Order: sequence, then structure tokens, then C-alpha cells
Amino acid sequence: MVFPNQGARMNTVEVDGVRIEVLFSERKICARIEEMAQDIAAAKPRNLLVVPILKGSFIFAADLLRAFYRVGLLPEVDFMILASYREATVSSGRVEVLRDIETDVKGRDVLFVDDILESGRTLAYARDLLAARGARRVMTAVLLDKPGKRVADMEADFRGFECPDVFVVGYGMDMAHAFRELPFVGHVVERA
Ligand code: IMP
Ligand code: MG
Repeated sequence: MVFPNQGARMNTVEVDGVRIEVLFSERKICARIEEMAQDIAAAKPRNLLVVPILKGSFIFAADLLRAFYRVGLLPEVDFMILASYREATVSSGRVEVLRDIETDVKGRDVLFVDDILESGRTLAYARDLLAARGARRVMTAVLLDKPGKRVADMEADFRGFECPDVFVVGYGMDMAHAFRELPFVGHVVERA
């Protein structure tokens, strides 16, 4: 059950005994996604393949794709599952493909969709992989950008919001596979 917390200064909700501060509300995300779809359409992608990077991007991708329909973008969609392993030294993190796309990208424009751009390792790896396969143009759209944590040479072409350097959940993003269903993005401030 979600109980809006009326009195507090922070906009927090309690979900199953865990207090979560709302950072980006459902309404704010919804409005921003329409703007992002317009910006992406304005980039005039050709023969567009959208590749959501699972799992965290699934809700963002679902909403962004439906906004694409409203702005007249008619992409194909295929999925990739990537895992990034964070090791002791930040620079040694490596990325592994757990599920690859089944689509030939040669000569096509590709748009990766991800939830958060943090170190940039995941998206830099994905970009380089499809560029090496002959994609004409590789673009990236992320809901959240944490620029303070960047390690790789990677900037998103389209981003929803700049996000503070805190661990966030909701709108597809999880903490140990929980909280993905929240319609907003929040920060866990207190556990039960
Ligand atoms: P990076 O840019 O390679 O560091 O990877 C970013 C990925 O790490 C995102 O796609 C998320 O899956 C995950 N991630 C980073 N920060 C958070 C967070 O605050 N909450 C949930 N997942 C996160
Ligand atoms: Mg992810």
C-alpha cells in the first residue's frame, strides 16, 4: 500500500514500511517524455531501431514508445540485456551481453533507451558494439543522468532529468528487484 505523507516538507510516501522521497513525480515524467519524443522526432531518425536496455528501462521505454506514436515516429523495437559488473576499482568494470538484439543494424539509425546514465560504461559499450556492426547513427535516450559519476566518454543525446547522486528506485528501477512498479522515481530515505 502507498500512503501519501501529507505533513512532511519532503514529498515522501511509505511503501510496505519503507519511506521513499519522491524526486520525479508521475506527472513530471509524463510531461518530460512527450518533450523528449518531440526532440527525438526533430533529429529525423532514418529507418529507426529502438533498443531498450533491460531490465531497468522497461517502463520508460514503454511510455517513450507510445509518445513516439503520437509524434509520428514509427520505429522497430528489439531488446538487449546488459549486465555491468562493478569491481573494486571503478575503471575495471566490464559489461556483458546477456541477451543480444536479433536485428541487423547495418546502415540503420539506432536509439538506445536506458533508465540511468551513471558511469557511462553500459551505454558506451552498447554504442561501440552497434557502431562496429555498421549502424549509421547510434543515439541514446536516458530518463536520468547522474553526471557526477561519469567514468566513460559518454553523453546522452536525449535525457529526461539530471539526477542527484543518490540511489533511486521506481518507474522500472529496482532495489533487489523491488519497487519497479512505482509510477514515480524516488529515493529510499528510511527502511523499516
Ligand atoms: P553505468 O552508466 O554503466 O554506470 O550504468 C548505469 C546503470 O546502473 C543503469 O542503467 C541502472 O541499471 C543502474 N543504476 C545506476 N544507478 C542506479 C540507481 O540509483 N538505481 C537503480 N539502478 C541504478
Ligand atoms: Mg540498467
